[in-house]
Amino acid sequence: MNVQGRPTQPETTVAAPRATFTGNRGLDLEEALIFETGRLDATGVDIDEPAPFASRLGGHERQSAIGLPGLSEPEAVRHYVRLSRNNYSIDAGLYPLGSCTMKHNPRLNEKMARLPGFADLHPLQPLSTVQGALDLIEELARRLLTMTAMSAVAMTPKAGAHGELCGMMAIKAAIAARGEGAQRRVVLVPDSAHGTNPATAALIGFSVRAVPAGDDGIVSVEAVKNALGPDVAAIMLTNPNTCGLFERHIAEIAEAVHAAGAYFYCDGANFNAIVGKARPGDLGVDAMHINLHKTFSTPHGGGGPGAGPVVLSDRLAPFAPVPLFTLKDGMRRLVEHSAGSQSFGRLSAFHGQMGMFVRALAFIGSYGADGLKQSSEDAVLSANYIRVCLGDLMSAPFGDRPCMHEALFDDSWLKPTGLTTLDFAKAMIDEGYHPMTVYFPLVVHGAMLIEPTETESKASLDLFVMTLRDLALAALEGNRDRFAAAPRLAPRRRLDETRAARQPILRWTKPAAG
Ligand SMILES: Cc1ncc(COP(=O)(O)O)c(C=O)c1O
Repeated sequence: MNVQGRPTQPETTVAAPRATFTGNRGLDLEEALIFETGRLDATGVDIDEPAPFASRLGGHERQSAIGLPGLSEPEAVRHYVRLSRNNYSIDAGLYPLGSCTMKHNPRLNEKMARLPGFADLHPLQPLSTVQGALDLIEELARRLLTMTAMSAVAMTPKAGAHGELCGMMAIKAAIAARGEGAQRRVVLVPDSAHGTNPATAALIGFSVRAVPAGDDGIVSVEAVKNALGPDVAAIMLTNPNTCGLFERHIAEIAEAVHAAGAYFYCDGANFNAIVGKARPGDLGVDAMHINLHKTFSTPHGGGGPGAGPVVLSDRLAPFAPVPLFTLKDGMRRLVEHSAGSQSFGRLSAFHGQMGMFVRALAFIGSYGADGLKQSSEDAVLSANYIRVCLGDLMSAPFGDRPCMHEALFDDSWLKPTGLTTLDFAKAMIDEGYHPMTVYFPLVVHGAMLIEPTETESKASLDLFVMTLRDLALAALEGNRDRFAAAPRLAPRRRLDETRAARQPILRWTKPAAG
């Protein structure tokens, strides 16, 4: 930098107009890519030169420097701390993403998961040294079965979608065992389903037949009966559904599905709204995944690691994936092969996400049966509080009806303003809130799906409601400035999300010198 003359501003990729020399906005610190700040000659550690050795790579050694950027230790620490401050998280504020159940992750769970006896396990350890861990998995499995009134549970799936795959593979194996594999090739999926449902069915070779929901947002028995036939293997129905509504006809739908010789897969991602209140096994469900990272508060982690155990009915239990747990001579064992087994085989290596199991069991144990029931009631209460507090300004697609754990609005109230759901969501960022889920479910125009969860206090809900009311009134009063360029106060301005999704730049390229 030339301190005599006017210093030049450092290069950054900030899109927002610069109000400051550094690009920082007060304590909101700008941070460049590590490739932009790192240097080839810097390192945070001193590593001794290796002793001379004879290479055994036969001439395949790298000939040039690898080119990774180096930072000193304080620079590296600052880089990652600054990046972490750009994250919005449930520990920073209310996270109203509908369908995602972003609730507080109790620190007790974290403490339990970090106990060395759990955290330091290796999946290849001899079984005799992991008996306690297997006990814990069994205990969690037992509790999941109690809460769902089902017969068997597969603990290995690593996420909800993986659980869907597991449940549908059990269904496929059951149909094949009946000799109907060639005939039953269709899976019924309601229009409003999460995209993973039709994707799962298609992935394992079924074709998907859509079932329309009624004007009330739920699926009718008639609609299911019309879609059923001798070619149908299963229905995949989400309950509570992705519109935040309870599928009231679930028991009759299950009956109709069974009468037609098909199976009932329930997407249990929203189990957090009914745990302790209703048991899927009592409603005729044959298979259901439970997203531990939603209902039982284990963290969502950037696409994993999650856990999506699948509970199975009597009819599907014989087809559960291996390994099965047994207790013999006081020792827990894992059985891979047993005579006459109808298991569809192994779903994944090892036994599931141990850290998630520990957290989920800690959550279940600390809440207890009454606490879990209350958590469902509070989740539903919070969502209805939001629905009612915003209902005079924002429009609800299915009328003024109680919802389950999430409140759904559409964009018809925004029509006269010329603003869109996206404008509204982006303006929430300027207010310090992560937006709600937008444009999902697809069946609702301009959908805004808000899931507050049971862990928000009334004060927190009130502030959120007041903020959204303030924004809604600004929209209705024609204050377009607040929305047009939003977010105005975030480190990045409004991005071209379509282009970012279609033409992602995933690799940093060094700018040409000069
Ligand atoms: C209704 C529904 N089904 C399935 C899934 C898939 O779960 P996962 O993200 O754990 O794969 C989700 C996730 O949000 C969901 O909301």
